[in-house]
Amino acid sequence: MSKTIKKICCIGAGYVGGPTMSVIAKQCPHIDVTIVDVNAARINAWNDKNLENLPVYEPGLSEIVEEARNRNLFFSTDIDRAIDEADMIFISVNTPTKNYGKGKGLAADLKYIELCARQIAAVAKNNKIVVEKSTLPVRTAAALKSILDNTGNGVDFHILSNPEFLAEGTAITDLINPDRVLIGGENENAIAALVDIYANWVERSKILTTNLWSSELSKLTANAFLAQRVSSINAISALCEKTGANVDEVAKAIGMDTRIGSKFLKASVGFGGSCFQKDILNLVYIARSYGLTEVADYWDQVIHMNDYQKHRFADHIIQTLYNTVSGKKIAFLGWAFKKDTNDTRESAAIYVADYLLNEQAEITVYDPKVSAERIYADLDDLNSRSSDENRRLVKIVNTPYDACDDAHAIAILTEWDVFKTYDWQKIKEKMKKPAFVFDGRKLLNRKELEDIGFKYYAIGE
Ligand code: NAD
Ligand code: UGA
Repeated sequence: MSKTIKKICCIGAGYVGGPTMSVIAKQCPHIDVTIVDVNAARINAWNDKNLENLPVYEPGLSEIVEEARNRNLFFSTDIDRAIDEADMIFISVNTPTKNYGKGKGLAADLKYIELCARQIAAVAKNNKIVVEKSTLPVRTAAALKSILDNTGNGVDFHILSNPEFLAEGTAITDLINPDRVLIGGENENAIAALVDIYANWVERSKILTTNLWSSELSKLTANAFLAQRVSSINAISALCEKTGANVDEVAKAIGMDTRIGSKFLKASVGFGGSCFQKDILNLVYIARSYGLTEVADYWDQVIHMNDYQKHRFADHIIQTLYNTVSGKKIAFLGWAFKKDTNDTRESAAIYVADYLLNEQAEITVYDPKVSAERIYADLDDLNSRSSDENRRLVKIVNTPYDACDDAHAIAILTEWDVFKTYDWQKIKEKMKKPAFVFDGRKLLNRKELEDIGFKYYAIGE
């Protein structure tokens, strides 16, 4: 019989740990959930009375935190205590691309995962189920098991893989109504314990159980397939621009074939987000490490196409602005990697900005949810120019109208719905003429903008 779980600990209070555990706490009032993190500022923000200050913005999240916080949902920096008290421990820490040593630029950096394993082993005084929630290279569970068994206090650890498939911006609906929940493991009782938690709100037929390695590899594969669809449609968008075909029409025509399906075929300035690139690079690294060169090269192309799309967009801006953007003001609407999130990791906006700044453009950014500090940090992290120069060339403003005032061109980098509601007539009047809009998200209405007098470019048209 499976053990009934009464206390859960989740290590890592980020974009996955925070929303995922909040939903478990909401749906399972009989389970105490404690989310811990080494980052005290992040934990303080999760505990902030003002729900506007939660560190993650997701529609519907603050309501859940308000309902469950300090009832059966707790945020803490006392990691040892939470590990000690828990029956089940989720590891939801970051697994970024390695930026040093062997596998630099490709492999996942597992140092935070290993630290968690060592801490769990050192603290645990009774048997624990340890759940991989982070996205990990296939076969990581074997390394985790070795660390836990060899450095622990003689207690039993069962390892499960339970990758997370939520997308940012829709995290809460994805968690409450998932397409599937995937649980990989070896020990039937441990698997059943986790199945029972999800079964509080997810139909059992949607809870899929597999062996550990299938579960770990399915997560990397799912992200690779999703990113591949975006790169595929983006490749076609370039061809559309040369031939008079319209990429939305092509996407609709192919998407109605049920074998292809209509989702995830929106051409764009390029995919961003913390995971697609990182996970494909990791897949490429794993394939290469097994000598599967053709497999590695195949997936690598998805990233190449994405880089090409970002540069192609920036190049198009430069060419259209009479082959120079030096000293010209370009207004960026949007900086987040997609709408309805304040996350900017790997956002296409960062790379388009960098490219234009290399051409001495001056950029003004407006994003409804991203802070100025975040935008400057993203640019500084590139090490392309000094942080003083980034601050001199890039201005961050609080209204879209301030961003577009006196601009030579507007570039739409994030598909925030609110952008559609702006007074585009008023915006045009205050811009330099001809007034250009480069729509990297195919968000606005061509006819409406052209009627106002804009020169309007959209990807794939
Ligand atoms: P994140 O950077 O937002 O959060 C990770 C947190 O872990 C940070 O707050 C960090 O301080 C904390 N942490 C790191 N090491 C720690 C340690 N030893 N002890 C305690 N805390 C520690 O990352 P994220 O976006 O939540 O992603 C986490 C994992 O989930 C990654 O593997 C990612 O690939 C995967 N994932 C992310 C998403 C997403 O939408 N962001 C979706 C599915 C899966
Ligand atoms: C993605 C996956 O969708 C999740 O299933 C997965 O859990 C997550 O990665 C992860 O592992 O981190 P996320 O990156 O949050 O989720 O957001 P997506 O909706 O997948 O969008 C990723 C990027 O692709 C965004 O920049 C988005 O604008 C772009 N995109 C997406 C397109 O350009 N066109 C599309 O049709 C879809």
